[in-house]
Amino acid sequence: MLLVGLVVAAALVATASVSMAEPIMIKFSHVVAENTPKGQMANKFKQLVDERLAGKVVVEVFPNSQLFGDNKVLEAMALGDVQLAAPSLSKFEKYTPELQIFDLPFLFNNMAAVEKFQQGPVGQEMLTSMKSKGYIGLGYLHNGMKEISANSPLRVPADAAGKKFRIMTSDVLAAQYEAVGAMPLKKPFSEVFTLLQTKAIDGQENTWSNIYSKKFYEVQPYITETDHGVLDYLVVTSADFWLGLPADIRTELKKALDEAIAFGNDVSAKKAISDRQAIIDSKRSEVITLTPAERKLWVEAMKPVWKQFENKIGKERIAAAVASNN
Ligand code: LMR
Repeated sequence: MLLVGLVVAAALVATASVSMAEPIMIKFSHVVAENTPKGQMANKFKQLVDERLAGKVVVEVFPNSQLFGDNKVLEAMALGDVQLAAPSLSKFEKYTPELQIFDLPFLFNNMAAVEKFQQGPVGQEMLTSMKSKGYIGLGYLHNGMKEISANSPLRVPADAAGKKFRIMTSDVLAAQYEAVGAMPLKKPFSEVFTLLQTKAIDGQENTWSNIYSKKFYEVQPYITETDHGVLDYLVVTSADFWLGLPADIRTELKKALDEAIAFGNDVSAKKAISDRQAIIDSKRSEVITLTPAERKLWVEAMKPVWKQFENKIGKERIAAAVASNN
């Protein structure tokens, strides 16, 4: 009888300690505004986890570089100070050369080609290209094609010569601007508006959504619709954190993440159109559409960058990306 009593008591204690267990905390840090594809995706993920894993997992989202900016977030992840982030694919150069493929100018014709490549075997294999460094890619998220804004009209590559452009931390992007005789400067996203406003730099490249949500169009009188590259994200976590999760929780989190990414991709497609239109309607910035002959000059000037990085990125990977245009 005593033994049964002890067993029951032990079981009660065990149940109590399980139900009183601390929830798993997930800090999701990002640099953009909430009303963007990434901001919306992060909030959706939190909402789904709140609904489905209440009491077990708590997600906190920190937008606008509030918690960590571009330079720190991956280091902070390695230290366990943040569990999820979605830096642009251009910001992983320190960790893997493979993802640099996404910065090659005029590689993808449109977002459908980007999606096809990311979901294909080469894109999927690249998700784990940083596993040995302690990072796991959980999926790609779209933002969109990039345009070039400036304080003077850019119609042909010669118009960019001698001008200073902010770029993300990517040697491919640096080479792309050097190819047209411009001066690239690697700067964190959080500094771009002030650099433009104070005219410390002449221009920058970004998606319609980022140009709109961060008000770059208010301090850049011209935006050339080049669609010369893609700005997408890798949703990334720490391998230690992710693989240390209970399997059932990990499965639920991945499911919620996939749904949030699908939602964010939908937002990105809509914002590429509506934010572009909002900028045009604001009349603060003139949107320059290139003629086919003008565009050809940009392609001819920038495409030699592929050769410079071919060995680092891998010829077969580039061929697979080109094939995704068909
Ligand atoms: C940038 O630095 O321009 C972008 O990567 C910001 C972002 O995360 O969309």
